[in-house]
Formats: sequence, structure tokens, C-alpha cells
Amino acid sequence: MQIVHSSHNFLLMIGLFDSGFGGLTVLREIRERLPDYTYAYLGDSARMPYGNKTQETLYRYARQAVDFLVRQGATLIIFACNTVSSEALRRIQQEYLPEKYPALKVLGVIRPTVEKALETSKTNIIGVAATRSTVLSGAYERELKKLDTTVQVYQQACPLLVPLIEEGWEKKPETRMILKKYLLRLKSCHIDTLVLGCTHYPILESEFHRKIGQRVRIVSSATATAEKLVDYLSRHPEVEKNLERKAQSKFFTSDDPARFTALGSRFLGEQIAPRQVELVNLEGV
Ligand code: DGL
Repeated sequence: MQIVHSSHNFLLMIGLFDSGFGGLTVLREIRERLPDYTYAYLGDSARMPYGNKTQETLYRYARQAVDFLVRQGATLIIFACNTVSSEALRRIQQEYLPEKYPALKVLGVIRPTVEKALETSKTNIIGVAATRSTVLSGAYERELKKLDTTVQVYQQACPLLVPLIEEGWEKKPETRMILKKYLLRLKSCHIDTLVLGCTHYPILESEFHRKIGQRVRIVSSATATAEKLVDYLSRHPEVEKNLERKAQSKFFTSDDPARFTALGSRFLGEQIAPRQVELVNLEGV
């Protein structure tokens, strides 16, 4: 295994960080809309799932990921993981970047998803399905209410879905039954929009739709983030002009590359060959 923490190659790319494979659903949506840029994707599969970890731990992992992606040449980083965006993004933006990387932009998935959910909803009654950490952080509810104080938000943690999807069980009756159970309460709340606030849930999108009812509109954080990134780059030419356009993606994983290839290819819809790296603390280095 190679410890990568000093290789500067000065390519200016868009970095994506996720706990593992799920963020590839975000990369997939982004590349569909912005195919020309150069991307570096880091999946911290060795330490996933992130969905039940503490805020302090997630903040440490996020700092390591930012350090790593900067050394790969990222000038813009997207936290593709809802859990990291909920628990660590604000501290990264407010505490870490000003001191260490004042020119770096780091964006998350919560804000774009919230904006899209509010544009989509007609009744302002919105449901959110996410990991336990994301739900407990209250980030979706807080951001939704920040933009619209009249909105009603109903959240549901669905902790079993990530492992089931990673097992490739998305079509099994057991998964459908569990999803039905999770959505039971949301179904009675008269939501007209459901946010899929986890990287993995787009894989189950049609099942979510079937179970919550076809009249409820689904907003996935992957699609919303990709759409808003297109808009962000058009409004920030100072960021966009620094991005290299090689139409390439590089993949890095902190765990077994073979497993990453097998699972990642399912999430991205194409064969990938990741490089194994170790994420380390660079503070003080
Ligand atoms: N990437 C995580 C998220 O979007 C789901 C997987 C995990 O818990 O690590 O919340």
C-alpha cells in the first residue's frame, strides 16, 4: 500500500469525497452534466460506514480527505457524502479552510438538495430519508427552515438500507419490506416531496417511489448536487477557469481496490480501477 501525502501533480481537478462507493452516484450525475472536467474521487471504504460515527470523528476524516484531495490537485471539493456534509462541512469551511487552504472551495450536498426540494414542493411538507447521523444532526431540517420558515419537515433514519444495497440486495423482498416499514410514518405525514438524503438511496429510487406513492416527488441529493454544481460553475468563473478539462476520472480507495471495483462499478455504471491509499493526519506536517 502506498501512503500518498506528498505527491504534487498540480492538475486542477474537481475532488469528490465520500465514505465509500455511494458518492459515485453523485459523480455519475455530475459527469452526465459536466463530462469535460478532470475528477478525483476518494472513497474511504476502510472506515465506512460513516452513518453512525460521531461529529468529531467525521471532522477528522474530512480534514484528512481534504488534505489528500488537495495534494492530488483539487481546487474544488464536493463532500458527496450526506453524513459528512451534515456533520463536518460547516467546521471545514469555517475553521479548517481559512487557516490552511484559504483559496479552496469545499461544497456539500445538503444545501443544493434543500434548494431543489423547496423548488419542487408545492405544499411545503417535505420528508427526508437519510442515515442515522444525518437525521440526528438535524442538518436537512435546519437548512430547509433557514430558507423557508413555513416548511414542515419529517425525517426518517433508514440505517439498514446502506448495507442491504452494498450486498446487492436492492431487489430482494426483504429490502422492500424494510423500506415499506421505514416509510410507513412518512406516508401518514402528507408529504408531497421526499428527499433521498443518502448517497446510496438513488439505487432504490423506483422502490422509494412505489412505497411512498407515485404522487410524491423524489429529490435525490445526487441529482440536486449535480444540477446546482452546473449553476455554481456558471456563476463562479474564477473557480471554473482553474479547472482542467481532460474528461478523466481518477479513483482512490482506502481499502481493497478489488472490492471497490466490484461495488463501485455498480454505482457508477462503468468499470473503474482505483488506487489504494492511506489517509493520514497531515496537521503539523
Ligand atoms: N455516504 C453516506 C451518506 O450519504 C452513506 C454511507 C455511510 O454511512 O457511510 O450518508
